[in-house]
Amino acid sequence: MPSRGRNPSDPFAPIAPHYDTLMSNVPYDLWTQYVVLLASRAGRPVRRDSAVLDLATGTGSMALEFAALGCRVTGIDCSDPMLQQARKKAAAQCLDIPFLCRDLADFHLPPSFDHAVCLYDSFNYILEPTELKQAFANVRAALKPAALLIFDVNTVTALEQELFTQRNRPGSPVEYRWRSRYNPKTQLSRIKMDFRVVDTNERISIVHQQRAYTDADLRSVLTDAGFASITAYDAYRTTPPTPESDRVFYVAALPD
Ligand SMILES: C[S@@+](CC[C@H](N)C(=O)[O-])C[C@H]1O[C@@H](n2cnc3c(N)ncnc32)[C@H](O)[C@@H]1O
Repeated sequence: MPSRGRNPSDPFAPIAPHYDTLMSNVPYDLWTQYVVLLASRAGRPVRRDSAVLDLATGTGSMALEFAALGCRVTGIDCSDPMLQQARKKAAAQCLDIPFLCRDLADFHLPPSFDHAVCLYDSFNYILEPTELKQAFANVRAALKPAALLIFDVNTVTALEQELFTQRNRPGSPVEYRWRSRYNPKTQLSRIKMDFRVVDTNERISIVHQQRAYTDADLRSVLTDAGFASITAYDAYRTTPPTPESDRVFYVAALPD
């Protein structure tokens, strides 16, 4: 998705009320444990009271997980409908989490965070390398010295193999069928997403776009932004990625 400054349309808006139903099988608690493990391996553990910035927080599921660990969490996302869901969830748990409507390529927060996380291939939604570069610079500016940025991406392999072409099983409250087309020249994947809300028979059709960034692309923009040590992991493992890896986690540390 291009940043809101370029394109005011929000491809997450139509599915925001259904996003958590669609993600009901996503183990956010295990993802949180994995992120905590990666932070410890980097020698910068997540502690109770750590200040955590959840980038592209969406409906705030990761933000709530970190809040449950005792962290002071802020979530940012450029989709207000997604953030409305996040705010409702936080209010239901009496959690005071600021959820701010900001574009990753255009936000400024004081250097107050120990950890920034950006989960579920959200950086792939930044389609312009110049905007990705700006986003990493903005993240860096919001972090304290020695802080960590941990994020995952869909790899070139994932988008080349059209892993977005999928449908869920009949019987789900929201049925979906997605078809993707990857263009190796532009490195862009266009995903046509069709949903049916079973109860109401509401049909929703949207188009998402993601950009594939190579390991070299990501290391280059992270280094330019000032991240000093960068480690990549095959998703949910503690081993390096392979050419077959479809999702890779990056742990990028700022100097002390
Ligand atoms: C796949 S969802 C992931 C949400 C959440 N991190 C999760 O794990 O459920 C991607 C999110 O990225 C957000 N997003 C995409 N591009 C963005 C940008 N340029 N700035 C801020 N948020 C963005 C979308 O609005 C959406 O909420």
